[in-house]
Amino acid sequence: MRIAVVGSGYVGLVAGACFAELGHQVIVVDNDEPRVAALKNGQVPIHEKFLPELLQRHRGKRLEFSTDLHEAVRASQAIFIAVGTPPTDRGDADLSYVESVAREIAGAINEYTVVVEKSTVPVYTSDWVRKIILRNGADPNSFDVASNPEFLREGTAVTDFLFPDRIVVGCDHERCCAVLREIYLPLTSGSYYESADAIPQPDSAPIPPPIIVTSTKSAELIKHASNAFLAMKISFINAVASLCESVGSDVSQVCQGIGSDSRIGPRFLNPGVGYGGSCFPKDVMAFRAVARECGYDFRLLEEVMRINEDQRERFLRKVRSALWTLRGKQLAVLGLAFKGGTDDIRESPAILIVKALLQEGCKITAYDPAAMERTQEVISSNVKFANSAYEAAHGADALLILTEWEEFANLDLRRLREKLRYPIVIDGRNLYDPEVMAEQGFTYYSVGRAAAHPDGVPAALKPERSRQK
Ligand code: UGA
Repeated sequence: MRIAVVGSGYVGLVAGACFAELGHQVIVVDNDEPRVAALKNGQVPIHEKFLPELLQRHRGKRLEFSTDLHEAVRASQAIFIAVGTPPTDRGDADLSYVESVAREIAGAINEYTVVVEKSTVPVYTSDWVRKIILRNGADPNSFDVASNPEFLREGTAVTDFLFPDRIVVGCDHERCCAVLREIYLPLTSGSYYESADAIPQPDSAPIPPPIIVTSTKSAELIKHASNAFLAMKISFINAVASLCESVGSDVSQVCQGIGSDSRIGPRFLNPGVGYGGSCFPKDVMAFRAVARECGYDFRLLEEVMRINEDQRERFLRKVRSALWTLRGKQLAVLGLAFKGGTDDIRESPAILIVKALLQEGCKITAYDPAAMERTQEVISSNVKFANSAYEAAHGADALLILTEWEEFANLDLRRLREKLRYPIVIDGRNLYDPEVMAEQGFTYYSVGRAAAHPDGVPAALKPERSRQK
């Protein structure tokens, strides 16, 4: 198939590279000229496992980059719209980029074309895209609009695309459906997985993945509802973690107990400093706004957002209760990205916590394996950046863990303790066993579990409790 992907952000670039990997002829279009030039020159603008290999493999062969949308539309049978849908001040999604792409597509269609929403958009967007294309002069029989939401996670985007749990295709006409089925045939038939140079299969991927064909509106809702549900799962366990802190029980035991119920499952049940990133915060807010517009007051989502914000505040209270006053304290911060495995700091709880601590007069030395360059663009003063976790810890009054990078879960604890001025660790991601930390001589605070002390003093979070009384 000949495919155009409009937008070279996380979704567009990964989708473009993966469609080429499936054997299609792909043009990725972006109006950001320097970005397109960089992509043509072989640069990889995002930190994503296997993406450099795929770009290298297909660039200049099955994968091209261009700023010319008109020409790309003319050359393609399917156009995937993967442009940004940032939140407006009201919390709903700003669809102006989608609209302007739809307008441009209208003027270029010359044979039957399937226009596919890949960006996360509210229900009814497909209706609007269709109207805009018609309004701008396209023949009603020359195109269809479909929705094909993407469920990729940053850091594992390529394997999520090639080994998905499911492929959701929303289309209202068989002709359009057939085009999308053909695009995904290498996955749904299993033929891709037989090729010798296929990307290695992650654990527990259903092969071949099922394809779920729905109406366009249902597919639009599936995307928002999936993200909102996952965010709700995280907020739920964070609320349970707060309760565990109040009663002195252990959230990891509670998670094991509830996550073993196959109806609930253990994934996305890790408590922490709250969810961040470019998707959950924006999508929960947008879904709430869409529901309101459609006449349903989805207050549950309000609470999901409130718990998420509260989770950061609770963490800051923990830092205060561990260190008493904060002005002038030297803190080591491990993790700036919104989660492990990415350099993305958008809506990162770590960044918000660092900013709050700076405001309270702390001095911070931070380390993140991938996100320090991006952080320097948003926080320039009062933060030093280190080359390793141990360098960050050097002389610090306490160490804070804010992102779940794998390397932070495997630190040499003895070396770490020797570097710190005081052996205090406040872990916002529950990467360590409290007992082990106490044995290693740390005072250790985590989320939803009692604090642990080297002298073995029973370690309930007393300040938190007394505040609640
Ligand atoms: C999320 C969804 O997981 C994808 O399915 C979806 O395609 C994507 O949004 C999107 O809409 O584009 P992503 O934002 O990359 O993917 O990140 P997640 O892995 O979902 O993590 C989101 C946040 O939740 C991170 O801050 C992470 O640290 C936090 N999290 C995740 C927890 O606090 N606890 C958990 O158990 C899991």
